[in-house]
Amino acid sequence: MDTNSHVLDHPPEGAAADWTIPQNWDRFTAEEHATWDTLFQRQAKLLPGRASRAYLKGLDALKLSESGIPNFAELSERLMKLTGWQVVAVPGLVPDDVFFDHMANRRFVAGNFIRRPDQLDYIQEPDVFHDVFGHVPMLADPVFADYLAAYGRGGNRALELGALKQLGRLYWYTVEFGLIAEPEGLRIYGAGIVSSSAESHFALEDPSPNRIGFDLKRVMRTDYRIDDFQQNYFVIPSFDELLRATVETDFAPLYEEILGQPDIPIATILPEDQVITHGTQEYALSRA
Ligand code: PHE
Ligand code: FE
Repeated sequence: MDTNSHVLDHPPEGAAADWTIPQNWDRFTAEEHATWDTLFQRQAKLLPGRASRAYLKGLDALKLSESGIPNFAELSERLMKLTGWQVVAVPGLVPDDVFFDHMANRRFVAGNFIRRPDQLDYIQEPDVFHDVFGHVPMLADPVFADYLAAYGRGGNRALELGALKQLGRLYWYTVEFGLIAEPEGLRIYGAGIVSSSAESHFALEDPSPNRIGFDLKRVMRTDYRIDDFQQNYFVIPSFDELLRATVETDFAPLYEEILGQPDIPIATILPEDQVITHGTQEYALSRA
C-alpha cells in the first residue's frame, strides 16, 4: 500500500471505522491461490543473491512459502511474536491519516484482492501479492519494523506541517524502491522491486538508472515516476543507518528548509551526490 491519495473520504459499506475489513480468507478461489503460487515461485527463484538478507530472513521466518494467499490471522501471529506488527485487510487505498495511524500502531494495511492471471507482470493498484510478499518480510526485521512505525507517526506530523509530498518521497525511495549496500554487493529491499520480476533485474543489473547514496534531504526533494521503472535508486548503507537518519532527526526544520527549495527532477545528478552508478538513462529514453 502506498501513500497515494484516496477516492473515498469515509469507509465503504462493510468496513469498520478504521477502514479494515475481514479478510474472509475462505472466499479466495483455487485460481486466486494459484496466482499467488505462480508469482511466489517466480520471485522466490530470483531473490537469493538479489534481495537483502533481512528480506530473505523475513520471508523464511514468516513461512510465506506455504502454498496459497496467506491467511492474515496466522501471518499476524507469527509477525506479532517477532516485531509486534500485524497485517490487516482494507478494501483498497485508504486516506492518508488512516494509513499513518495503522502504521504508527504497527498494523500494516494490505489490499484484499489478487491480480488477475493476465496481470502477473504489472498492476497499478497494490494487491495482496505486492502488499504481503513485497512488504511484510521486511516487517519481520526489528530495525525496519521500528522504522515503519516511526514513519507512521511522522506521517501525521507531515500532514500538519504541509509536507506530505516530501515525506511521501522518503517512503517511495526506501520502503517501495530502496536498495542497500551489503558486503556482497547491492541488494534490493523495496517492496515495489522485490514483488516485481522485471524490476528485480532492472534495479540491480540495468545500466539505465542512477544509483545514488541515500541522503535524507536529497531524497525528500526528488520527484519520481509511478508508471514505469525508476530512473534513480537510493542506496542505504544499513537499516541501522536509515533508522538513525530518520527517527533521530526532527523533520520540522528540514521540511521548512526544503519547502523553500526547488524539487529535483527525475534522473538529475547533483555535484554533491555520492554516485554509485551514473545511469545511461537508455531505458527511459527508449520509452520517451
Ligand atoms: N523523525 C521524523 C519527524 O520528526 C519522523 C519520521 C521517523 C519520519 C521515521 C520517517 C521515518 O517527523
Ligand atoms: Fe507498497
